[in-house]
Amino acid sequence: MHATRPRATAAGTTAHRWPDLPQIAYGGDYTPEQWPREVWADDIARMHDAGVNLVSIGIFAWGLLEIREGDFDFGWLDEVIEMLHAAGIRVDLGTPTASPPAWFFANHPDARAVTRDGVALGFGARGMVSHSAPAYREASVRIATELAKRYGNHPAVVLWHVHNEYGVPVGEDYSPHAVREWRRWLENRYGSIEALNAAWGTAFWGQHYEQWEHIGAPAAAPSVVNPAQRLDFARFTDDQLLSCFIAERDAIRAHSDRPITTNFMANQHGGVDLWKWAAEVDVVSDDHYLWAADTEAEIGLAIAADLTRSVGGGDPWLLMEHSTSAVNWQPRNIAKRPGEMARNSLSHLGRGADGILFFQWRASRSGAEKFHSAMVPHAGASSRVFREVVDLGAKLGRLAEVRGSRVHADVAILWDFESFWAQDLEWRPSVDLSHDERIRAYYERLWRDGITVDFALPGHDLSGYRLVIAPAQYLLRAADAENLNAYVAGGGVLVSSFFTGVVDEHDAVHAGGFGAPLEPSLGLRVDEHLPLREDEVAGIAFDGETYAADIWQEDLAISGADVRAVYTAGPAAGAPAVTRNVSGDGVGWYVSTRPDAAGLRAIMASVYRDAGLEPAGLPAGVESVVRHGDDADYRVVINHSDETVSLGMSGVDLLTQTTLEGTLVLGGGEVAVVRTSRPQ
Ligand code: GAL
Repeated sequence: MHATRPRATAAGTTAHRWPDLPQIAYGGDYTPEQWPREVWADDIARMHDAGVNLVSIGIFAWGLLEIREGDFDFGWLDEVIEMLHAAGIRVDLGTPTASPPAWFFANHPDARAVTRDGVALGFGARGMVSHSAPAYREASVRIATELAKRYGNHPAVVLWHVHNEYGVPVGEDYSPHAVREWRRWLENRYGSIEALNAAWGTAFWGQHYEQWEHIGAPAAAPSVVNPAQRLDFARFTDDQLLSCFIAERDAIRAHSDRPITTNFMANQHGGVDLWKWAAEVDVVSDDHYLWAADTEAEIGLAIAADLTRSVGGGDPWLLMEHSTSAVNWQPRNIAKRPGEMARNSLSHLGRGADGILFFQWRASRSGAEKFHSAMVPHAGASSRVFREVVDLGAKLGRLAEVRGSRVHADVAILWDFESFWAQDLEWRPSVDLSHDERIRAYYERLWRDGITVDFALPGHDLSGYRLVIAPAQYLLRAADAENLNAYVAGGGVLVSSFFTGVVDEHDAVHAGGFGAPLEPSLGLRVDEHLPLREDEVAGIAFDGETYAADIWQEDLAISGADVRAVYTAGPAAGAPAVTRNVSGDGVGWYVSTRPDAAGLRAIMASVYRDAGLEPAGLPAGVESVVRHGDDADYRVVINHSDETVSLGMSGVDLLTQTTLEGTLVLGGGEVAVVRTSRPQ
């Protein structure tokens, strides 16, 4: 149906540029400022053993680089950079602006961020700054400029690492500086107070405004604050953070031509719209940590990696941080077992990463993160973890030719940060509504079927995808709904889950009711939401089988769709649950409940038939992704199971330099990267 390959989805203003590195990037955050000089020599020797070629330095060193306001001490950093340069290790140089020093807050007490409850944050952790405070903006550009002037053309410096994880630990800020900028942002967005009143629906609960000065930040209030106001505040916060990044980036660009990044957190969507950010960086980079409570955390990892690649328009990206073993900030910090670090690393690489870095090189003896794993753990170089770090470095060293190759996907799942921000506000029909959970359920089905996925916005050009899934598109702009409808009419297959197409960009319910904008594709609207009680399990009958389905039902008003499943129990018993609608040359499916895994599998098998997709038939627990190069394809295969598996494949396993003639045999927990010749 679709002859062309999917196109890159991010509309970037910045063309991505990869740093000058001879290999797959390998290394981690390096904090020599925490160690005496004797340890530095040992660091270099161990980095050499491990094949480390890139380290990120200076990220939290502001207090040691600018001792007093305007009084800089770069002596130790000069030494560190020269030492790394002499050893042939490249530098990703941080601007330390995620954590201003003690003098900054002493001199500018008003530059502390204020929480929604009105608490001005204290010093002693990191972050805590108001990104709207003029003193912060000035100071952060000043230190970035000084660093760029001094090191911008140093041969060891190949990449800039601005700030650290914007949005964490401080995103929304309710300080007077933020409120002043917020009013300016609103005036700019709406132009007139009447337009703002209309967009926010302020006739409700008598919230009408006559003056911009009367508008506050949506601070803690006696009841639920206007959701349109809160959604705009989330957008404003994102814009404030992004403008801080851009100010530092441009200050660096004035003195250095090296690529610039800031590390994202694709698996947390608290406050930063990565589609926008990815268009402003030279290199897309991501930090990813396994959620230890998840016994199949590799699926969550794959989501984050695919999202990172997708926001970057498919370009190679850098895994800026992950952990060699346990982290220190989850309720139970589960250590990685032998081989797991390599499997995680190869999953990222298979999904488009051209660099694998860790937090951090050497475990800190002091401070809040002393129980976090590292490349050199407290147990030192004789530890299992360090041996695996050395082994991984050797493996990556054999993969230089994979760099620059790209992942292609036939399926896109919609991922829209604004929609998530809106859905997460209060007073939704059920606490069981979770965009993360729905995305994971659909993604997991595709992961198990070995079908590679991109993520996309509903407004992107989707025409290259055979299948588009909307598991959680609560907020849907009218223009984006038209785009989806055109995609289906043009021959695409759309699967929409429940609670989709409910509100517009102001969190106002669509005229015509829930789901109205997608009626052309789906052949229905939603008459009423019917959330289920906690632990209530209903069911659906689909293709002669009955499957459990819980949390949610809907009364559907069908205008053209065929009924493919009915409810077997619950408030909508006997009524349509799953529908299929032919629209133009395409098909729109609607799944109005949460079927269990077997039910979703059965539904998706029918969807695949419509989309011309085939499950890859992989053994359970085996992940397999292809990167396409100019001259060869690279199949990255990861066996997450304990069993030995055999897969039909010919080529050369680059990790073992073994030629495969028809079969790849992979032991439990093992990985392979097979260069395959392309089918003619
Ligand atoms: C990251 C952060 C690092 C370190 C790490 C620990 O989010 O960027 O500085 O704190 O978490 O897992």
